[in-house]
Amino acid sequence: MASPDAPTRVALIGCGGISGNHLAGYRHVPEAELVACCDVLEEKAQEFAGRAGISEVYTDYRDVMVRDDIDMVDICAIDEVHAEIAIAALRSGKHALIEKPFAMTVEEGEAIVQTARETGRRAMCAQSLRWAPKNLALKEALDSGSIGEPVYVRLCMPSSPFWREDQAEAYASRPADWLLVHNGMHSFDLLSWLLDSSPVRVHARSHPGQQWLPVHEYVTCSIRFGNGAIAQTEENRIMQPSGYPFHCEIYVVGTEGTLDLSDRLTHAVSVYNRDGYNLVGAHTTWSPEQPNMPFACEIREFVRAVRTGGDLPVPLEFSLEVLRGLLAAAQSLATGEAVEVRS
Ligand SMILES: NC(=O)c1ccc[n+]([C@@H]2O[C@H](COP(=O)([O-])OP(=O)(O)OC[C@H]3O[C@@H](n4cnc5c(N)ncnc54)[C@H](O)[C@@H]3O)[C@@H](O)[C@H]2O)c1
Repeated sequence: MASPDAPTRVALIGCGGISGNHLAGYRHVPEAELVACCDVLEEKAQEFAGRAGISEVYTDYRDVMVRDDIDMVDICAIDEVHAEIAIAALRSGKHALIEKPFAMTVEEGEAIVQTARETGRRAMCAQSLRWAPKNLALKEALDSGSIGEPVYVRLCMPSSPFWREDQAEAYASRPADWLLVHNGMHSFDLLSWLLDSSPVRVHARSHPGQQWLPVHEYVTCSIRFGNGAIAQTEENRIMQPSGYPFHCEIYVVGTEGTLDLSDRLTHAVSVYNRDGYNLVGAHTTWSPEQPNMPFACEIREFVRAVRTGGDLPVPLEFSLEVLRGLLAAAQSLATGEAVEVRS
């Protein structure tokens, strides 16, 4: 039996773009040790293994599940396979950190929650943006009561598109709501976390953007939360010039003031209230060398909760409520009507 001081042994599944950020994160989490990786494309798995300095490489995740000496999987594969892999991992006695969105349907999400309960294993949706220093500063300013009770949030996430017309075939089968569901999990999670409440009614609208692309490139959602607050989101990849940075502008109106995260150039959080104007701080974006990079923080906090039995920083039940709101927004996009979120 492994000593309680031995590091948590991790297999990373899905060795594409985001796996590099997770790899950089593990370098700052001494309690965890990456021992294996898996990708359906062997060259991707081999390439990741080379960078991670590991030798155990798989192309079928089921071969990872039979390993009794692996404690946890880190699921960085494409969205559509998250639920299947997470449920297999929990059933084989492993903990699962799951990239967002952790499931593609409410039924899948409920099944993961249920399986985690039945097996006593831990599972968490990896919401890295919560650990961006500027978002932590905004949350702290909000929770300190600096603007009273929040009543309205506007959250805007633009960046230049990562799809290109000369690769149109790769996107041909993507649904119109792909940007909303894929990136909106960040927006809906951030809003629910900041407001400490869940969406109860959503109305989404979109613009299709470029003609060759089935994905709608601009999506805006009006959301009402259980605590009465209202919010407006924008997922935007439309017509941005190449190099326009991914960023997240957030503006919160409260009963006693306004908070403003001006992200694109300054990453500055400002408070406007009865005391006047106060710059809470300018917060750098992360770099892979920093132990406080969001991916290191989310992995570290998940691993620590697994090892101590402590609370998860992002409880799975919370993420399920976020997912219900997000998928109701996808339904609204399809019908053009506002949708009540059922829990
Ligand atoms: N937290 C963030 O900020 C953030 C940013 C980008 C992506 N993501 C999430 O990370 C996940 C991966 O995104 P990406 O950009 O790295 O995508 P990607 O397409 O670059 O990589 C996904 C990898 O999964 C592999 N894969 C597919 N099916 C598999 C299976 N059954 N078993 C093992 N591997 C499989 C693919 O071959 C590919 O290499 C997505 O869920 C995405 O939403 C999160």
